[in-house]
Amino acid sequence: MGDFFEDINLGADGGIYAELVKNRSFEFDTPLMGWQLLQKGEESGSLLVHNRGELNGAKSRFIRVTSKTSTGNFGFSNEGFRGMGIKKGQQYNFFVLASQLSGNVSLVIELTNGKGDKLGSTIVTPGGKPWKKYNASFTATATEPKAILNISIKGPGVVDLDMISLFPQDTWKNRPNGMRADLVQLLADMKPGFLRFPGGCIVEGRTLEERFQWKKTIGPIEDRGFLINRWNTEFKHRLTTDYYQSFGLGFYEYFQLAEDIGAEPLPILNCGMACQFNTAEVVPLESLDPYVQDALDLIEFANGSADSKWGKKRVEMGHPAPFNLKMLGVGNENWGAQYIDRLKIFTQAIKAKYPAIQLVNSSGTDPNGERFDYLNGELRKMNADIIDEHYYRAPQWFLDNAQRYDNYDRQGPKIFAGEYAAQSVAIASPDNKNNWQCALSEAAFMTGLERNADVVAMASYAPLFAHAEGWQWTPDLIWVDNLKAYGTPNYQVQKLFSTNKGTNVVPILRNNASVTGQAGYYASAVLDKNKKELILKVVNASDKMQDADFVIDGLSKVGAKGTITVLRSDKLDQVNSFENPTAISPVVKDINVKGKSVKVGLQPYSVNLIKLKFS
Ligand code: AHR
Repeated sequence: MGDFFEDINLGADGGIYAELVKNRSFEFDTPLMGWQLLQKGEESGSLLVHNRGELNGAKSRFIRVTSKTSTGNFGFSNEGFRGMGIKKGQQYNFFVLASQLSGNVSLVIELTNGKGDKLGSTIVTPGGKPWKKYNASFTATATEPKAILNISIKGPGVVDLDMISLFPQDTWKNRPNGMRADLVQLLADMKPGFLRFPGGCIVEGRTLEERFQWKKTIGPIEDRGFLINRWNTEFKHRLTTDYYQSFGLGFYEYFQLAEDIGAEPLPILNCGMACQFNTAEVVPLESLDPYVQDALDLIEFANGSADSKWGKKRVEMGHPAPFNLKMLGVGNENWGAQYIDRLKIFTQAIKAKYPAIQLVNSSGTDPNGERFDYLNGELRKMNADIIDEHYYRAPQWFLDNAQRYDNYDRQGPKIFAGEYAAQSVAIASPDNKNNWQCALSEAAFMTGLERNADVVAMASYAPLFAHAEGWQWTPDLIWVDNLKAYGTPNYQVQKLFSTNKGTNVVPILRNNASVTGQAGYYASAVLDKNKKELILKVVNASDKMQDADFVIDGLSKVGAKGTITVLRSDKLDQVNSFENPTAISPVVKDINVKGKSVKVGLQPYSVNLIKLKFS
């Protein structure tokens, strides 16, 4: 089990990336989106957006601020991402790039709540004309989920400003330019086997021009690129027209995150095709080289030595050791002959230079449809390493498909169940809920994934994060607001499986057959040879209590005591929430083992993890 990360639902900017200032470098299509001018009394100042065009590469804009007085009556404020989540006693680190053109301008930095009460402040006084970075810190005096940042200008004078930034000190591992520690902790708690990034459809982009290009996301943050998010949307019920990618969270940070949480990195790259749900643009085959080169260079960035061009960049960013990249995805939810044509070129080039790299090939959504069958057939002919299958389906589909992989070819490609989630209403419906019925059906399905771990090499729920006030897609694994986050029942199921993967799959049989839905009963079993544990996962998806008698075969001695961990609810529509984040959460109890037999009662609508010690 692993994590699928995509910058959807404010997953990165406004989510796990801890930057509090929205549009910090004025690059949104509307340059002052997120900013508001503050002008008290007579006109005491002005602000003009400047564009350096090509001169400054990716980040072309800055603001020129003219202050006529020393009153501080002129300034501007930033609204953050649906406000700024501020915690009492926490240190906040401000920085800005500034060039003082004339006079003597100071910036009074202040956090306030909606009523205008001050939550903390500091002053920055840029000195001199050359662009320079200025830092200042202060401590917040109160907790506030929707603070705003005010910057009053005391002059007179003229100053140019860019990259106006505010981070909490308590980022994950206290890193500057860091991530929200509470959100990373939720991922670390899952002990994911891999981290797939950066998506999802954002890999493809609405157009090729808007595709995700990893090279624009590394190096000093002020030099990184900028992109409208593919999920910037005007759908009525999912209004997120202020959704951009600052790339403060870039490929270096994704690799580092994977390393921190003990997950194998799994980057996915554009294969020369824009999102087929949008423009479906493709790059001509004869122009594919730069795309392929991006893939080769990424492997060098991750694994190359300081002597290589791209390895050197990783070292300069602070990571001398390789990231030990072993897998790479080519394309996301791409289909048709045009995908196969492009994939073949990528595969040939990558395997020629890096034969050990395992390639993840896309087979898209629609697992029962023609498109899927065609692609799977073609990929098998190509002897693909790993095929990425996606399914966003009704809970019943998950129950019905617990046997999906029982008959897959054992000699052919491995499977990556790369995106899945039971949909309570319909695919990506805004009315979908992360309810217990969905989580229960996923658990039943996952016993099938686990039982077939020799074929299904990896699996991840999708999407991972959603901001309560800025989402485009439901359901999602973890819901966040500016201060809090909770794991859904689906998260609890993922975590239960992921933290109890064991080392070896062993058969669990009923009447000599796999347990795949008979009387609503689903099961899988693993041994953890390191911890000397036998772990059974048993799902009772029926509305009735069921007795389960297990007789353990093949282990010489089983401990007299074991445990059962239960996730359950009487109500299939039960959800977790900000108010009740643990409504569905694991309850652990001791159980007795008689010789080699265990008798347990399986409660209706329950996911049960039985752990026994052996010697
Ligand atoms: O997870 C949400 C989206 O679903 C992903 O971006 C895409 O790959 C799939 O269609």
